[in-house]
Amino acid sequence: MNENIILNAEKYVKKLFLNEFSGHDFWHTFRVFKMATKIAKMEKANIFIVKLSSLLHDVDDIKLSPQTHKNKDNAVKFMKEQNLNEDIILKVISIINEISFNGEHKTPSSIEGKCVQDADRLDAIGAIGIARAFAYGGNHNREIYNPNIEFNTEVTKENYRNKNSTTINHFYEKLFKLKDFMNTKTAKEIAINRDKVMKNFIEEFMLEWNIEK
Ligand code: ADP
Ligand code: NI
Repeated sequence: MNENIILNAEKYVKKLFLNEFSGHDFWHTFRVFKMATKIAKMEKANIFIVKLSSLLHDVDDIKLSPQTHKNKDNAVKFMKEQNLNEDIILKVISIINEISFNGEHKTPSSIEGKCVQDADRLDAIGAIGIARAFAYGGNHNREIYNPNIEFNTEVTKENYRNKNSTTINHFYEKLFKLKDFMNTKTAKEIAINRDKVMKNFIEEFMLEWNIEK
């Protein structure tokens, strides 16, 4: 029964994200789903809640679906159609509300929320994180890098979506901070290597950029 709901959720997000290429595509959701499940097993969290929340975590994202964002209409509608009870629906919605990063770090109140938030953040770092950052930057007409634009490490809710920055700056403004925001031991360990991958990348990028004539 629960297995079927998870399969239906997979089908639902696949269809919903069919034309989404900005870094929040189906494959992002699918990677978060797999990683969150792996973390949940290690952390002994409720696997069904983690699977469902991770699959639905971006279906009402403010950037992709601003009109359903506030009340999480897509996620609620899907869960009602699956005849899930009110308790489960409320739990999943509260996890989705708690996990997003808007310039401010919020620690989820449940272990299930912690697993999903960690998985979502792990997908923003490492080799895949690098690829996603440049996909997002291209999609938002941002420069790869501009040495005249200083980075702003003091990110707040107000300036987080500030247009006048570059993708390389995004590493300093957000991505290098994520390693220290991991909730679970499992994710902390995975984050160490992914963070190193990004640091090596930036180091090489700067070497290539600053070539002497
Ligand atoms: P979340 O997955 O928590 O909703 P975002 O929507 O902020 O995170 O970001 C989605 C992806 O786009 C992430 O991989 C993130 O690093 C990247 N991204 C977000 N903002 C920027 C930016 N200003 N420049 C480059 N990449 C960005
Ligand atoms: Ni996400």
